[in-house]
Amino acid sequence: MAVSYPRKVLNSIGPKEVFTEVVKERKAQVLFLNSYRFNEQRSCAELTNLLEALDGKPQELCREISHHINDEARHAVWLTDLLCELGEDIGNPKSGSYIDELNALFDKGADAVQQEDGLISALASINATEKRGCQTFSAHIAALRQAPATEENQRIRETLEKILPEEAGHVRWGSRWLGQIASRSPEHRQRVNAAKSKYALIEQAAFEAVMDITAGAELRRLGHLVEIANTLPAWERPGYVLERLPQALLAPNLQKSRLFAVQRVLEDKPEKLVEQFIPMFLSGLRHPRPPMATSQN
Ligand SMILES: [Fe+2]
Ligand SMILES: [Fe+2]
Repeated sequence: MAVSYPRKVLNSIGPKEVFTEVVKERKAQVLFLNSYRFNEQRSCAELTNLLEALDGKPQELCREISHHINDEARHAVWLTDLLCELGEDIGNPKSGSYIDELNALFDKGADAVQQEDGLISALASINATEKRGCQTFSAHIAALRQAPATEENQRIRETLEKILPEEAGHVRWGSRWLGQIASRSPEHRQRVNAAKSKYALIEQAAFEAVMDITAGAELRRLGHLVEIANTLPAWERPGYVLERLPQALLAPNLQKSRLFAVQRVLEDKPEKLVEQFIPMFLSGLRHPRPPMATSQN
């Protein structure tokens, strides 16, 4: 069975490279920790909405989702405690939110979760985001293992190492439910695989929307919209792209993130603005299109 995995950003920067740099800069590392905290907290709200929409049926699934909410709330608590103990802010991140980007890319015409296709979509989207969580935490932990073992880095690593196995459990949980639905018939398997591919594309687009602030990001966002639209029935494609076109091209959150990044460089290391930041920003022009999807069998 074809399984899509989260792709690299801009074909070139993988999670390993990102976190090798992140763990060197305390401020950057704290921003990442706060975005994890925010996403964990927000995922409780999203899963609660799903639970209410399911309205108790199927009972086994609802029961497991309530445990899932408990896990995500615990992760948010661990990260909140960590940031407080490090003397850091726990306000909402100034850059765009990954979950907001995901929600903006969801296709509003999708079936309600009480219907089978709606449930497949919900499980496939959760599965894609949980895989991203595992990839991110694994890369962050691996970078911390190579970084100086300061007391602070050890404390951060311990927290992420507590969360990671539970996120891996969430991936297995989603895969088990999707596998059960796929086993009902060849037609079910085809629908499950189509949903997995579609939500892997949506998740990648949302991830890049918050990570990619380099020149040309607006065009890559448009490229993602076209990729996602191609997974929809032909008559829904123009409407899907047109509805999201202003957001992709004007991208107020992207402009905010760029300004925030420049401010940080100017405050901390102004000499790096010309030396490193501007070349990094312009490097985006080498990749006007989103990277191609990869898959493994
Ligand atoms: Fe979590
Ligand atoms: Fe999770």
